[in-house]
Amino acid sequence: MNTKIEVVKGDITEIKVDAIVNAANSSLLGGGGVDGAIHRKGGLEILEECQIIRCSQGGCKTGEAVYTTAGMLPARYVIHTVGPVWHGGNKNENELLAACYRNSLHLANELGVKTISFPNISTGVYHFPKEAAAEIALNTIRNFLETENKTIETVICVCFDEKNYRLYLDKL
Ligand code: APR
Repeated sequence: MNTKIEVVKGDITEIKVDAIVNAANSSLLGGGGVDGAIHRKGGLEILEECQIIRCSQGGCKTGEAVYTTAGMLPARYVIHTVGPVWHGGNKNENELLAACYRNSLHLANELGVKTISFPNISTGVYHFPKEAAAEIALNTIRNFLETENKTIETVICVCFDEKNYRLYLDKL
């Protein structure tokens, strides 16, 4: 299956796809950044489903992914994944960030998703260095698409800031 990886600059809540990936926190109760935008625009339904997940499994561990409705967003699902907080690189941050992308893509396959968008996970409040995060993101996405993908036709990496956008374009 020849799957496309696209890089765009903009607001992930404005882009129509089957699944939008959220850079959440382990509580799944929302926050700032892209998490805040997704909950604000998607509406209460998303938080209600996050609370159901919290009741059944606590929250979401770093590197793992869960899904909810997308509410009023232009998508069917929001896949919530929790990126690692950057602590200098000796706390398995690289592998945990890769796991966010891999587990989100796995879940997207289970949901029969054809188009999926990712923000630049962990590169905001969690301070993961943007250059390394871009490398991990694209390598992990490419590897998944080449070895395991069953349903995805297009992956859109949505960059909100110019620095990430330039980094992704250079590495694509
Ligand atoms: N669309 C796309 N990308 C966005 C948007 C948006 N509307 N808003 C912010 N971003 C970008 C940021 O510029 C950054 O590059 O998403 C990237 C991730 O930044 P954060 O949203 O801060 O996420 P992260 O660094 O993973 O930290 C997660 O922040 O919002 C809280 O609840 C969240 O505790 C969690 C933490």
